[in-house]
Amino acid sequence: MNLEDHSASFKTINVDLGDRTYPIYIGQGLIERAGEMIRGKIPEADKIAVISTRVINDLHGYKLKKSLEEAEIDSLLVLVKDGEEAKSWSEAGNVTGELLEIGLDRQSAIIAFGGGTVGDLAGFVSSILLRGLALIQIPTTLLSQVDSSIGGKTAVNHPKGKNLIGSFYQPKLVISDPVLLETLPRKEFVSGLGEVVKYGVIADLELFERVENEYEKLIRQDQGILEYVVARCSRVKARMVSLDEQDRRGIRVALNYGHTVGHALEILTSLKISHGEAVAIGMEIAARISEKLGLMKKNDVERQSKALEQIGLEAQLPRVDLLNMIELMKRDKKATGKSINFVLPTGIGTPPVLKTVLERLIIETLENIE
Ligand code: GLY
Repeated sequence: MNLEDHSASFKTINVDLGDRTYPIYIGQGLIERAGEMIRGKIPEADKIAVISTRVINDLHGYKLKKSLEEAEIDSLLVLVKDGEEAKSWSEAGNVTGELLEIGLDRQSAIIAFGGGTVGDLAGFVSSILLRGLALIQIPTTLLSQVDSSIGGKTAVNHPKGKNLIGSFYQPKLVISDPVLLETLPRKEFVSGLGEVVKYGVIADLELFERVENEYEKLIRQDQGILEYVVARCSRVKARMVSLDEQDRRGIRVALNYGHTVGHALEILTSLKISHGEAVAIGMEIAARISEKLGLMKKNDVERQSKALEQIGLEAQLPRVDLLNMIELMKRDKKATGKSINFVLPTGIGTPPVLKTVLERLIIETLENIE
């Protein structure tokens, strides 16, 4: 994996996966060069389906279309629902039907143009249609630029749980343009910042310090720092995916820091709190548990709390039934049998550990944060 500057106009980070290695291009205004970049990586793709939502297409679709036209790529738009509703088995069926209808063939490619839900759905459809079509991720939210567009996890939901049906299917390239984030609703932008702090804590001290010192710029969406942040997070994610593509070796699981409590809160509040808010509370709980177990210094726990607060994610536990929360945590992907496993931080910028945590300790920590 390497991070290089190309005439200071954009950065390239490679996800090293042998002959499936692919680049993540990061830079301001890159959407206008998408066609040329796609041609460079997938020269045979004359026809591309762009899967997106109405909102994203109205805001930014014309730039992507123009750039594809300039590269002589024929593009066809397929709109899907907004949010988690897009990630259903029936929506995947509808989309595959539409794609066959418009005549995609094995040379064609698919662009996922949207946030995490569009990326997950379009990725899943790409992996099954005609036994796999080339996929390009063009993420339009901070969360998807720093996390979900990289690493090939694709999925739709099932009534029994989120992401239960899916595949590992790596894109051919990812294009992250921080300018697209300017139109993100505030709450969604701040939600993505929670994941940025997460990357700092689990893997990147320098990133954490920049967030600590330049949070005001970050909140203002200064393009320079945003580009830096997207690149640093992508670099960490690319490394973890290269080392543990299918999340079986205990490396990629670190990305779930804050998510054991976070997912339970998202379910219990019926997604009324944002993913970032939920993960921020989860990180606070996990860090306090680490401190109690002697894994993390008090000073580092406080540094994390302060950084989260500065970006607008103060850890305030909503009113929820703690026993229900425990039950949901037992159903977490990392749970084994009836025990609850947490990704526990060990410092700022140092690898976390995966550990079983006693219910009593979790409840005691939750009670103290109320
Ligand atoms: N978002 C967690 C992962 O990609 O592994």
